[in-house]
Amino acid sequence: MATKAGNWQSYQRVLLPPVKDLHKLSIYGDYAALRSVLTHNSPREVTDIVKRSGLKGRGGAGFPTGLKWSFMPPVDPAVPRYLCCNGDESEPGTFKDRQLMEYNPHQMLEGILIANYAISAKACYLYIRGEFADWITLIETELAKAYEANLVGKNIMGLGFSSDIIVHKGAGAYICGEETSLMESLEGKRAYPRIKPPFPAQSGIWGYPTTINNADTLACVPLIIERGADWFASIGAPTHPGPILYGISGHVNRPGVYEYPSGMLITDLLAVAGGMRGGKKLKAVVPGGASVPVLRADMIEGVTMDADSLHKAGSMLGTAGMLFLDEDTDMVAFLRRVARFYHHESCGQCTPCREGTGWIENLVTRIDEGQGNTRDLDLLLELCDQMEGRTVCALADAAAWPVRNTINRFRADFEAKCRQSVWAAQSAAA
Ligand SMILES: Cc1cc2nc3c(=O)[nH]c(=O)nc-3n(C[C@H](O)[C@H](O)[C@H](O)COP(=O)(O)O)c2cc1C
Ligand code: SF4
Repeated sequence: MATKAGNWQSYQRVLLPPVKDLHKLSIYGDYAALRSVLTHNSPREVTDIVKRSGLKGRGGAGFPTGLKWSFMPPVDPAVPRYLCCNGDESEPGTFKDRQLMEYNPHQMLEGILIANYAISAKACYLYIRGEFADWITLIETELAKAYEANLVGKNIMGLGFSSDIIVHKGAGAYICGEETSLMESLEGKRAYPRIKPPFPAQSGIWGYPTTINNADTLACVPLIIERGADWFASIGAPTHPGPILYGISGHVNRPGVYEYPSGMLITDLLAVAGGMRGGKKLKAVVPGGASVPVLRADMIEGVTMDADSLHKAGSMLGTAGMLFLDEDTDMVAFLRRVARFYHHESCGQCTPCREGTGWIENLVTRIDEGQGNTRDLDLLLELCDQMEGRTVCALADAAAWPVRNTINRFRADFEAKCRQSVWAAQSAAA
C-alpha cells in the first residue's frame, strides 16, 4: 500500500531540524520570513499565502489556518485585535509543542509575528502550560533577545509594523487549552469555556477580535513564507499537508517526537519508533491523543496519518500523539485511566459533562475491580449518548469517544471482566 508521505525516508526535518543550539536567536537567525512579509506583502496577501499552503491547525481540530485568519473583522483603528498562541498542551499522549518550545522556539515566535501582521494584531498572548517552567524561562529569555534586536515590539526592523508578544503561564488545568477558557484564564478568571457564538474572531480577549492558533501551527508559518505555499502543499497528504510532529508513546522501543510528512502509514511510524517492545504483538493504537477513538491492530492496515484516512478507519488525527498498546494491555484498565483524567479535568459547568464523566469513571472502575455486569456496558454507552454534542465545549465529547470506542472495539475484554465479577458469580448462584 502506497503511503501519501512519498519518499519519507529521505525527509529533511524543518520543524525540529538537527541544528545544535537552535533555540538561541544567534543560531536561529534574524527572522528573514518576517522581514520578507513586512517588506513585500500586505496582511491580506499573507493570509492568502497561508490559505494556499493548505495548512490545517495542529491543535487537534484541524481547522484551515488561513481561513480562520480571514474570519477576523475589518480593521477598526479604535478596536485592538489579538492573537493567542496556544501552548497549553495537556492532553495525555500529546507532547510535541513542548519539543518545539524547547528546541526551536524562535520559529514559533516568528510565526506569531507573521500571524500578528496578517490579522493586524496589536499583540499575541503566548499561553504556555504552567508546568513547562523550564521552557517558559527559556522562551522569556529568548523573547527578550528578540526585543533587543528589534524583531518584536515597536516599529519592527524599522519597517513600520509594531506588535508585542506577552508570555502567560497557564493555570494548571487541561481545560485551559480549550480556546475560550484559555481567554477567560488570560483575563484572570476561572477557566470556564464560553458559549459560542460569539466566536473569538468577533469577541475574544476582553471582548475584542481574537484569533487563536496552536504553537505548532504557528511554527509552520515562517516555512510557508520562506519556501512557498506550493512547497508546503506538496508535503505528505494533499488534504492535510505539511510536516507533522508525531508524538509516539506506549509499548514501543523508542518513544519520542518524530517529524515526518503527514500521511505516513501507521505501520511505518511504528517501525520508526523501533517496533513493539519485547517483540510483543500490537493490540491497539490511539492515533491522535487520548480523546480520539482507539483502533484495533486489525483496523490499521493501510491507514495513513491524515484526517481522511483516519476518518475512514474510524478515528481521527487529533494532535498526532500516537499511543501504541501491546497484546498484554488490559483495555478496561486503560479506559479507567482515561476516564479518571476526564472526570478530574471537567470544569463542571455543564451537567452532562460534570455528572457523566463521574458516572463513567465510577462504572469503569466498578468493572475493572470485578464488581460490574454487562448491563453497565449498555449504561456506559447510554451515558455517552447523553454527553456527546450537548455541552458548552468539546471536553464532554473527548471524554465520551474513548468510552464508546473502547467498549465497542474491545467488548470481549469488558465482558470477560464482567463474567469474573462478584455480581456475576452471585447471579449465577441465585
Ligand atoms: C478540552 C480541550 C482542550 C484543548 N487543549 C488544547 C491545547 O492544549 N493546545 C491546543 O493547541 N489546542 C487545544 N485545544 C483546541 C483549541 O480549543 C483550539 O481549537 C486550538 O488551539 C486552535 O488552534 P489550531 O487551529 O492552530 O489548531 C483544546 C480543545 C479542548 C476542547
Ligand atoms: S463540557 Fe465539560 S469541560 Fe466543557 S464547559 Fe462543559 S463541564 Fe466544562
